[in-house]
Amino acid sequence: MSSAHGPLATGIQPPGYNPLNQSSSMSSPFKILVTGGDGLLAHALSQLPTPDAELIFVPRHAFDLTKPGQMDEHLRMIQPQAVINTAAYNLVDRCEVERDLSWAVNATGPAALAGICAERKVRLVHYGTDYVFNGFKKTPYGETDPVDPLNHYAAGKLAGEQAVLRAASQNLVLRTSWVFDWHPTQAKTFVHTIIKAARESRSLKATTDQASVPTYATDLAVWSLELLRQGAGGLFHAVNDEGVSRYDWAQGILAEAAAGQLIASAPPVEPVLSSFFSATMRRPDYTVMNNEKLSKQLGRPLGTWRTGLRKMLAQMK
Ligand SMILES: NC(=O)c1ccc[n+]([C@@H]2O[C@H](COP(=O)([O-])OP(=O)(O)OC[C@H]3O[C@@H](n4cnc5c(N)ncnc54)[C@H](OP(=O)(O)O)[C@@H]3O)[C@@H](O)[C@H]2O)c1
Repeated sequence: MSSAHGPLATGIQPPGYNPLNQSSSMSSPFKILVTGGDGLLAHALSQLPTPDAELIFVPRHAFDLTKPGQMDEHLRMIQPQAVINTAAYNLVDRCEVERDLSWAVNATGPAALAGICAERKVRLVHYGTDYVFNGFKKTPYGETDPVDPLNHYAAGKLAGEQAVLRAASQNLVLRTSWVFDWHPTQAKTFVHTIIKAARESRSLKATTDQASVPTYATDLAVWSLELLRQGAGGLFHAVNDEGVSRYDWAQGILAEAAAGQLIASAPPVEPVLSSFFSATMRRPDYTVMNNEKLSKQLGRPLGTWRTGLRKMLAQMK
């Protein structure tokens, strides 16, 4: 378990800024328990200065979504005012194989956590996925568009977000997509994969018929805390601006990596259709989400993924 706090960066306070510890005394800061403590979004949260809150990070072994007794005990001991649940089973292909485990982490676990939080009057922030949509629409999806998960990962994530929203009106679900950021020990994102392949002079192929919105985890972390400060609840599409195809995303990464001298030059990328890759399961093609509701709620544009990408690449140098 670890905690992070420090001065709030100028600029992340929205108008009408409402400190999280408004109702707490100086000796008892607003405590936020962050699950999935070793993951990408949790790391981004740990890097944000939060003088108005104490963030307590719990990794899987200490706070396992499949162990309700352990979760309840932690909430009893720590007594947080909010939980940010970044934990999830995110290996989309493996979800088809490890069906019970992935369902336990993505569906039953968040439902149990939401129940425990509701009982203790603890606010819960949870994350959903663009994969809840079937991809047939071809224009950006809004929060009220019908869902139709095509695979076991998506079905589990949908059941999880629905349980969280049902449990309490103050709970937040932020659906996001193609999350990327720098992490001190992990290099698992698409950005890492593309740069590694370019450095090893491997041939690059990327799909032109799959599109979504790359989202910088640091931005997602900032939005999450802003929404908590506002006392907002409900479902939001939490993505950066500008949907792109995998092919354009790969080209964007290579161009920025070359400009930042992480690679000598941008190698060519061969455009292919998703049918080129032998698929063991169905994935939606087009899952670009519209972020207008969140942008309106925060009172500002959410920014392009290009800015986040540049910041991430600067850290990779
Ligand atoms: N990454 C994306 O592109 C993407 C896209 C759409 C939605 N999202 C959602 O955004 C949220 C944050 O994702 P992320 O990118 O930060 O994910 P991440 O880097 O994969 O982190 C998830 C963390 O959850 C932990 N975990 C796995 N099983 C657990 C369990 N049973 N109990 C407790 N913790 C467990 C993992 O621990 P181990 O490392 O020990 O396994 C990992 O540290 C998730 O809800 C995810 O579904 C992400």
